[in-house]
Amino acid sequence: APAAPARQTEQQPVEAAEGRLQTSSLLTTAQGVRLPDTDHSLKAGPRGPSLMDDFHLREKITHFDHERIPERVVHARGAAAHGTFTAYGNAGSATKAGFLQRGRETPVFVRFSTVLGSRGSADTVRDVRGFAVKFYTDEGNFDLVGNNMPVFFIQDGIKFPDIIHAGKPHPDREIPQAQTAHDTFWDFVSLHTEATHHVMWAMSDRGIPRSYRTMEGFGVHTFRLVNAKGETCLVKFHWKPVAGIHSLVWEEAQIAAGADPDFHRRDLADGIDAGAPLEYELGLQIMPDSADQTFEGIDLLDPTKIVPEELCEVQLVGKLTLDRNPTNFFAETEQVAFHTGNLVPGIEVTDDPLMQARLFSYLDTQLTRLGGPNFTQLPINCPHAAVNDNLRDGMHQSAVHQGIAPYLPNSLGAEGEPVPAEVSEGAFVHVPREVNGPKVRENPASFADHFSQATLFYASMTEIERAHIIEAFTFELGKCYEQPIRERMLGVLANVDTELCTAVAAGLGLPAPKGMPAADVVPSPALSQIVTVPGPI
Ligand code: HEM
Repeated sequence: APAAPARQTEQQPVEAAEGRLQTSSLLTTAQGVRLPDTDHSLKAGPRGPSLMDDFHLREKITHFDHERIPERVVHARGAAAHGTFTAYGNAGSATKAGFLQRGRETPVFVRFSTVLGSRGSADTVRDVRGFAVKFYTDEGNFDLVGNNMPVFFIQDGIKFPDIIHAGKPHPDREIPQAQTAHDTFWDFVSLHTEATHHVMWAMSDRGIPRSYRTMEGFGVHTFRLVNAKGETCLVKFHWKPVAGIHSLVWEEAQIAAGADPDFHRRDLADGIDAGAPLEYELGLQIMPDSADQTFEGIDLLDPTKIVPEELCEVQLVGKLTLDRNPTNFFAETEQVAFHTGNLVPGIEVTDDPLMQARLFSYLDTQLTRLGGPNFTQLPINCPHAAVNDNLRDGMHQSAVHQGIAPYLPNSLGAEGEPVPAEVSEGAFVHVPREVNGPKVRENPASFADHFSQATLFYASMTEIERAHIIEAFTFELGKCYEQPIRERMLGVLANVDTELCTAVAAGLGLPAPKGMPAADVVPSPALSQIVTVPGPI
């Protein structure tokens, strides 16, 4: 293989960071001019109008006017921490990814989030939680952009705008702010039964975690690992919390949302300050890279399906420790940009159609959210590996590129030698895979199974967990104004479990769908106090 291209150019960041530290008691303008006073605008006499002449007034107000950037279109509310990932070294036979080899320690930044609420919403609402990890590896940044539930609402990313439009507050009144208890959400998921398995997770105790430190995380999709010999396997990523999995009960979640809407981010920050880091182990479910990409009859390209741990063990391959709080929320937690396409050699994506759409979406949205194509230069996004790209200029460019040859091949680079346009040593080389098929808008037949794993999930619950699920469905559907939606959702639940369906129907005061036996589970007294079936508005 030809040698790696010589560094033909170097990025020289403008020395801005230190210059912005608030170390001096002397206030200056952004241009470094000392100011005598920041409390009084320049006026024509003490009672006169302010003068355009006042460069400090104009700069101070103008900058303030532009302090906000768009919040994330989803996962707007989040909290984050820095830490380290330490590999146990047992994943080397499955992947050549350097950060998973024995003894490697890799800095990480992790952002936890809720999906639906805005930046100022409460932490303990019933929702999916994001669990996004950025590994600053020696081979470039790897982002594992996961959730605290192992499945997703939709099988094809083209439907992401639909589920999010349905889950977000109603367009007319922007109510409710941050939860799933409303008509549009239930309208969509009752019409769109591939969401059923995910809805079961969301209505379970997993939807109201006690703390970020007691949440599992999942990569959701099946990924492809490649080892040093070029052999591949299919894998699902898991984060296992060392503190165990714990949830709130619904009443606690409600009280916390009122008494301390920052319940989770406070626990994260205070815990770290108090010397109690958050700890998780990374686990892999490793499966053969079979031609049909199924395992034990489960379609591995279907993100609404799990692979039960009884069928494929989760092998623990490293430990994540989060022990340092960000020092600036905006610079770190807000400006961090995760992307499922940030991969390192040894880890590839599969053809899961949900993943394929994500590969487009993250970079695209960040171009708007972070104002152009140069956000990888922000300290929180900057790789720790050396960067030598030919990307130039653009909005918010802060690197001062050297050299005159941002193109390949060239013979005018820093080394003065011709630089090859191709290199394979240490590079991300996609494993060659044949791709062919008719151009169609269709799902594979296996995607049509929408209920078997929802039933499996319910069957795996303890009695109290089932009671919580029944209460959650009853409460949430009780918030629907439209009776036909409630009835349609009961029809969906009839496909999952008879007990679940009849108990929720009883809680809502509705007849069970035809063919269902009468309810033998009566909602608890506590629940009947909080269920409200709204009347006409
Ligand atoms: C943001 C997870 C599906 C589009 C996020 C974040 C997480 C996440 C954790 C927050 C990242 C952060 O903390 O900054 C997932 C998971 C998915 C999924 C696990 C399915 C398995 C999708 C799909 C799309 C999408 C299908 C679009 C086709 C977005 C967008 C953002 C986002 C636009 C905001 C990113 C930003 O502004 O920086 N997602 N997501 N996601 N996701 Fe997803």
